[in-house]
Amino acid sequence: MDQSEKDRLRREVDETLHGQKQPQAPQQVEQNDCSNVHHVIGVVSGKGGVGKSMVCGILAVNLARRGARVGILDADITGPSVPRMMGLAHERAHAVDELLVPNQTAGGIKVMSANLVLEHESDPVLWRGPVVAGAINQFWGQCAWGDLDYLLVDMPPGTGDVALTVFQSMPVDGVVIVSSPQDLVQMVVGKAVNMANLMKVPVLGLVENMAYVECPHCGERIYPYGPSRLAETAEAFDVEALGQLGIDPALAAACDDGTFERALPEGLLEEATDTVVRTAEFMDAVRGGQDA
Ligand SMILES: Nc1ncnc2c1ncn2[C@@H]1O[C@H](COP(=O)(O)OP(=O)(O)OP(=O)(O)O)[C@@H](O)[C@H]1O
Ligand SMILES: [Mg+2]
Repeated sequence: MDQSEKDRLRREVDETLHGQKQPQAPQQVEQNDCSNVHHVIGVVSGKGGVGKSMVCGILAVNLARRGARVGILDADITGPSVPRMMGLAHERAHAVDELLVPNQTAGGIKVMSANLVLEHESDPVLWRGPVVAGAINQFWGQCAWGDLDYLLVDMPPGTGDVALTVFQSMPVDGVVIVSSPQDLVQMVVGKAVNMANLMKVPVLGLVENMAYVECPHCGERIYPYGPSRLAETAEAFDVEALGQLGIDPALAAACDDGTFERALPEGLLEEATDTVVRTAEFMDAVRGGQDA
């Protein structure tokens, strides 16, 4: 390497280190002419398997039962689970005029997921990061969502690349964080809260899943992981406690056999659903005020 090349390299390093050469922040992806999505709500967690898809499904069904127009964007590209639970395992998405058309559940909830665009539901998704990010952007920007009051985004586990893509590409009004009761997960909740804070996305609150088991004979609640830590964890991270879910084998079975939408009992996560509705009303008021 000669002197001039060394000088050039040094200049480049200096520019980068001193902020003159900032990496370009990714842009928000615009909605298309066939989409009018009013509110985007993310369902996140700091780790996998705590019940994000379950909570996302419950919120979607609750909102639809209250008369809202609802969609679910399954952002878990490599581990999609929404089509199966919503009874769409054997459906495939199609495209019209270069826009993907979401599939609809029996109750009218629109769904877009990697599983709906794969040839077979069991095909593995062996895509690298940029392709996954591209798929998310496509599910948002090149999908004909129509008029939706709520688009719920079922996030992949953790606080990695895909979560960042969602926050950067879509106008997310807020996130619901899901946790399970184990001690370790408290630290994991912190990751999800910190990610939302860094991305300046409001945290609507915390749902504790699999908190207890109800005796089928007497209805007594048994707490296999010890007393609930929902209130304590919510306070520690200064977020709202939005309610608990017990372990319900019937609900897990309904996810597996695609009858979830019909089988979901009334009254689950009502407080979390109310909070989503209130947030939407608040955002409408703010935006209305800005338009005026
Ligand atoms: N309250 C519950 N009662 C019974 N089973 C549940 C409950 N919540 C979740 N499950 C089951 O636990 C498994 C994991 O739940 P789910 O898929 O919702 O988690 P997740 O956080 O979305 O996972 P991943 O990080 O892999 O996307 C599923 O089989 C689901 O049906
Ligand atoms: Mg999931």
